[in-house]
Amino acid sequence: MSAATTPTGDTVQVVAIDGPAGTGKSTVSASLAERIGAHMLDTGAMYRAATLAVLRAGVDPASDDVRDVVDAADIRLAVGDGDTQVFLNGEDVSDEIRTNDVTAAVSAVSAHAYVRTKLVELQRRHADDQFLVVEGRDIGTVVFPNAALKVFLTATPEARAERRHRQNVAAGRESILAEVLEAVNLRDHLDSTRAVSPLRAADDAVVVDTSEMTLEQVIDRLTELVTERIGVRP
Ligand code: DC
Repeated sequence: MSAATTPTGDTVQVVAIDGPAGTGKSTVSASLAERIGAHMLDTGAMYRAATLAVLRAGVDPASDDVRDVVDAADIRLAVGDGDTQVFLNGEDVSDEIRTNDVTAAVSAVSAHAYVRTKLVELQRRHADDQFLVVEGRDIGTVVFPNAALKVFLTATPEARAERRHRQNVAAGRESILAEVLEAVNLRDHLDSTRAVSPLRAADDAVVVDTSEMTLEQVIDRLTELVTERIGVRP
């Protein structure tokens, strides 16, 4: 197994999975982690927890007051084999961070440089001594630039909106496809044009377009890449 080194000098095995919302990233990352015997770290869940703290405090997500709220927030992730559990000041907020209100405000909160600095530090701490699949937007470019494997998942906005919409319906959340597509396009724009750590593929990432692939095909492809690049077999 080859090892990766974090910017803080830790030696870890990291598979970085980046890409926009709706590429199947979360499901793919969880299944891949299970297959290769790694844990999964969902970094979007951290930005969502920070956003929930901001909304609860009644603070404008774009204002500088976000700093104080996020500074005071105790955000923890229980990284394990199943879905990531997220805690805000000791309370399990795993469901509440998926609401439309949080989704609508998360790009604004995650655009603040100090929010990113705090959460990136937390993310790197999780990687100490663990074999991890880390999913997010800037994992291969910023958080773990020495990751053993970097994957950038893409899909057309229409395919991604369709998937999000189906997830919403399955979870019993109110959902209108045209609105989901609009939200996907807006969030893509905000995430890829922000000044700090914009969403982009790392130069050495393997880009996988999932528009025409089933979930199973994507997981198979990523498992092959892990075997090729890191030498880990399922
Ligand atoms: O993956 P997700 O939809 O749960 O992510 C929620 C938001 O968090 C997304 O709009 C962008 C932001 N995010 C980020 O800026 N950096 C990450 N590493 C992960 C998520």
